[in-house]
Amino acid sequence: MKKIIVANWKMNGSPEMVKLWAEKLRSLLPPTTSHQPPTTVLCPPAPLLAYAQAALAGTPITIGGQDCHEKPSGAHTGDTSAVLLKELACGYVIVGHSERRQNHGESSELVSQKAAAAISAGLIPIICIGETEAERDSGQTIEVLRQQIAESIPQTAKTGNFILAYEPVWAIGSGKVPTMGEIATAHQAIISATAQRTGLAPEAVCVLYGGSVKPENAGEIMKIAGVAGVLVGGASLDAEGFWKIVASV
Ligand code: PGA
Repeated sequence: MKKIIVANWKMNGSPEMVKLWAEKLRSLLPPTTSHQPPTTVLCPPAPLLAYAQAALAGTPITIGGQDCHEKPSGAHTGDTSAVLLKELACGYVIVGHSERRQNHGESSELVSQKAAAAISAGLIPIICIGETEAERDSGQTIEVLRQQIAESIPQTAKTGNFILAYEPVWAIGSGKVPTMGEIATAHQAIISATAQRTGLAPEAVCVLYGGSVKPENAGEIMKIAGVAGVLVGGASLDAEGFWKIVASV
């Protein structure tokens, strides 16, 4: 399967930064006749989506949202619907990022509703799961992941219409990364729990790794069995560094 690399800009960026980032990526992309890059997705803040779409037009880089509301429209001040993201040419949307779960109190049940809204709008939700440091320290990692999988994946999930991202909360933005063995173990557990939960074949379950992915460690992480790609936060802001991650596939 083609690897998937997702840039999550979080609450960073500006129209000018989108322009410079896209120009840099365009200069680094291989000519269309040569080896094609992996599936590459940029998730900027929602107000920058139209800029990103225009700046990246004609490149193989797709855009995605960082979150969506569970309803298609209505009186929800400040929220963005999956339907609108689709109209803005998004192919993907991140849901259940730990920063949303923690800062906005989003439950797995709500994450499942958001993922269902994304699927019904024709987007691929990137459903984030991951344990906190305290849960890891008390040996609960696999149990926490299983619980999040049971509650965050909607009934409409089927082959190819959703992606999971394993993001240990303690690894996000911290520079700390699980060992390659720990990532492998977690991904295998996620794949088998998701296959059980959805009835899909394990090969059909796509799980990205996220948390302090850098140009220096991306290649090694993506070689691990069960790692379908990476979700990159901080290191995606620098176009050259991000390109190194894409090129390390
Ligand atoms: P990080 O963030 O790469 O800055 O650790 C990853 C994420 O939160 O998606």
